[in-house]
Amino acid sequence: MRTPVFKKTTRWLSLAVGVLLSSILLTACGENSPSILNTYGPVASSESFVFWVILIIATLVFIFVEGWLVLSIFRFRERPGQATPRQIHGNLKVEILWTVIPMIILFVTLFYTIRGLFEVAPSAQSQQTGKTINVEAVGHQWWWEFYYKDYKITTADTMVIPADAVIHVDLFSNNVIHSFWVPALTGKTDLIPGHQNEKWFKADSNAVGKTFTGLCAEYCGTQHGNMRFDVKVTNANDFQTWISTQQQAAAAPDKNSMAGKGAELFQANCQSCHGIVGVNLKTNGGEGFGYDDPMKACNVPGQTCLVGPNLTHFGSRHLIAGGVLDWNVASCDPNAPDLFEKCNLAKWLKDPGAIKPGNDMAGAFTLTNDQIRQVIAYLETLK
Ligand code: CUA
Repeated sequence: MRTPVFKKTTRWLSLAVGVLLSSILLTACGENSPSILNTYGPVASSESFVFWVILIIATLVFIFVEGWLVLSIFRFRERPGQATPRQIHGNLKVEILWTVIPMIILFVTLFYTIRGLFEVAPSAQSQQTGKTINVEAVGHQWWWEFYYKDYKITTADTMVIPADAVIHVDLFSNNVIHSFWVPALTGKTDLIPGHQNEKWFKADSNAVGKTFTGLCAEYCGTQHGNMRFDVKVTNANDFQTWISTQQQAAAAPDKNSMAGKGAELFQANCQSCHGIVGVNLKTNGGEGFGYDDPMKACNVPGQTCLVGPNLTHFGSRHLIAGGVLDWNVASCDPNAPDLFEKCNLAKWLKDPGAIKPGNDMAGAFTLTNDQIRQVIAYLETLK
């Protein structure tokens, strides 16, 4: 008579249910969530290739080892009245076999990993064809700043890039370590205070019109999980248009208009942290703050650079508050009675600490509801 492995069918049932439930959990990752498997550029493709190589090898090893284990459990299990099996100690052939096979497996993994490392290394950028766009990415607590040094423009929360161009990114932080990650385009690289890291990536032409989620991948404080950004891929012409718009100074509203009053409030309450070209900045290089290049200052631990995002073209963005909120401008008519219920910017200005506890704007100013309406009217003009 055989000794049953699972005594009751309920155990088999619970096993089957467990497997089914975990598969539902794993498929919960929706289409819009960033994935390293759904890639739109050579760097991310190279990284996901290494992932597949390792996954396939690991799966084969798993099937072989577990298969052998399950087979042994059923085929060779102890039976009543059975004599003790023959004991063996040491078998040279088996010893060699189970040393050599894992070695081969590890060497194959090592080969593809090292090849992948060379493909995505900063030195591999020189082998790429196409225009190079240089961007300095600065990690703040907790938002991303992007400075396009060839064009002298600074923006936040959204990085706009043309397809088929090499994007060279220098990574800076003057506070804590952050990590730059755009799963669909490139893997993670840390931003380390006092140390300049760099990376490159490229978006394929089929990425035009798409927006990819970027994340901070290194714990950097209470709002680490809310340190999000977008990478928007355009064609070369649209990128040029975007650049020339961003290079212009901010429009100055009529002094007596609602926006004009908002501009005055900006100067009284906001400009010690936020820069606007044409208001408190002469150029997007940051002159007016006592240093030539705010991005360089942002890489020196303890040295001040702009505390808050440059707002020169705030109205043209689609994320606010470090990527936590959508800039739902259609719901932000400054005169609307339900402004504070519907408009994310109004909620943000009303109580930034409630939306993103611990951020620098919390408690930095107090504005009445009417003043917030005026500031919103002004910010909307900054297209
Ligand atoms: Cu920045 Cu996590």
